[in-house]
Amino acid sequence: MKQKCALLSALVLVMVFVSLGAAFAAEKKIVVGFAQIGAESDWRVANTKSIQDACAAAGIELRFVDGQQKQENQIKALRDFITQGVDVIGFSPVVESGWDEVIEEINDAGIPLILSDRTTDIEGTDYYATWMGSNFIDEGEKAGNWLAGYLERQGRGKDEINIVELQGTVGSGPALDRKKGFENIIAKHSNLKITQSQTGDFTRDLGRTVMESFLKKGEKIDVLYAHNDDMALGAIQAIKEAGLKPGKDIIIVGVDAVKGAFEAIAAGEMNCTVECSPLLGPQFVDAVKKLVAGETLPKITYSVEYVYDETNAKEELPKRQY
Ligand code: AHR
Repeated sequence: MKQKCALLSALVLVMVFVSLGAAFAAEKKIVVGFAQIGAESDWRVANTKSIQDACAAAGIELRFVDGQQKQENQIKALRDFITQGVDVIGFSPVVESGWDEVIEEINDAGIPLILSDRTTDIEGTDYYATWMGSNFIDEGEKAGNWLAGYLERQGRGKDEINIVELQGTVGSGPALDRKKGFENIIAKHSNLKITQSQTGDFTRDLGRTVMESFLKKGEKIDVLYAHNDDMALGAIQAIKEAGLKPGKDIIIVGVDAVKGAFEAIAAGEMNCTVECSPLLGPQFVDAVKKLVAGETLPKITYSVEYVYDETNAKEELPKRQY
C-alpha cells in the first residue's frame, strides 16, 4: 500500500512539473537581439521605430543596441547577444566587410541570423536565415533613369551635364550599390558626367559641409545626386546659402523618400526621391516567429518601392509616416 501511495505521489509530481513546464514554455517570451547601425538619418530613426513597435506589439523582448555607426560597437553587441543566448539575432551591418569572425561565432552558437536592410560581403547565403531590404543597385538605376528622362523633358537631353555626387558611408552596401546603379545608367549618356564625388556619411550635417566644398570650387554644377535624402536636404541649405535656387539652378535627386524630401519637392527645392522603405518591423517580426517555429525562410525579400517627383509627391506627402 505504502509503495502504491509513493508511486501515485511521484506520478502526481511528474504531472505537475510537466504542466508547469508547458505553461512556462507557452509564456516564455521570444528574446531578440538587434544590432542597429545608428541614428544617422531620418530613414534610420524610422527603421528603428518600426522594429521596436512591431516587437512590442508582438510581445517579443527586444534587446536593441545602437552601434553609433561604428563597426566595433556592432561586433560587441553581436558577441553580447551570443553570450546572452538570445533566440534570434537581427543585424544591419554598417559596412559590408569585416564580419567573418563574429558571424562564424553566431553560426557556431546556432542562433538564427536575420539581415535587415544591409548585407555583408561574405560569400554565399548559408550564414544567414533571411535578408529583407531594398535592391540598392536598382535604386541607383532608378535615380539615373529619372534624371535622363527629366533632362529630356526639359529639352536638355543633349546638353553637357555636370553631376556632383554625395556618397553614403564608405564601404556600405547602399553607397557602393547606389553609385554602381547610377553609373550603369549615366554610362549610356555620354553628356552626363560625375565631376565631383565625396562621402557625406548619410548625414545631413556632412551633406551640407561637402556641398559647400563642391560649390566653393566654382565649377558648373547642374545636378546633385545624393545617396540619401538627409544629405540632399543638408546640401539644399548650402545651395541656398550660396545664393542659388535648389531644384531650379541645380537639379536635386535623393534616395529614401522621407517626409523632408516630399516637403522639399512640394516647395520646388528638390526634384526627385527614390523610395527605400525603412518600415521593415512587421516583416522582421514575422520572420522571427517563423524561425523560432523552425521554418525555413526565403533568402531575400525585396521591398516594393516607387519614385517620387513633382508629379506625385504632393499627393503622397500626407500619407508619409516618416
Ligand atoms: O541602408 C539604408 C540607408 O541607410 C538609407 O538610405 C540611409 O538614409 C540610411 O542611413
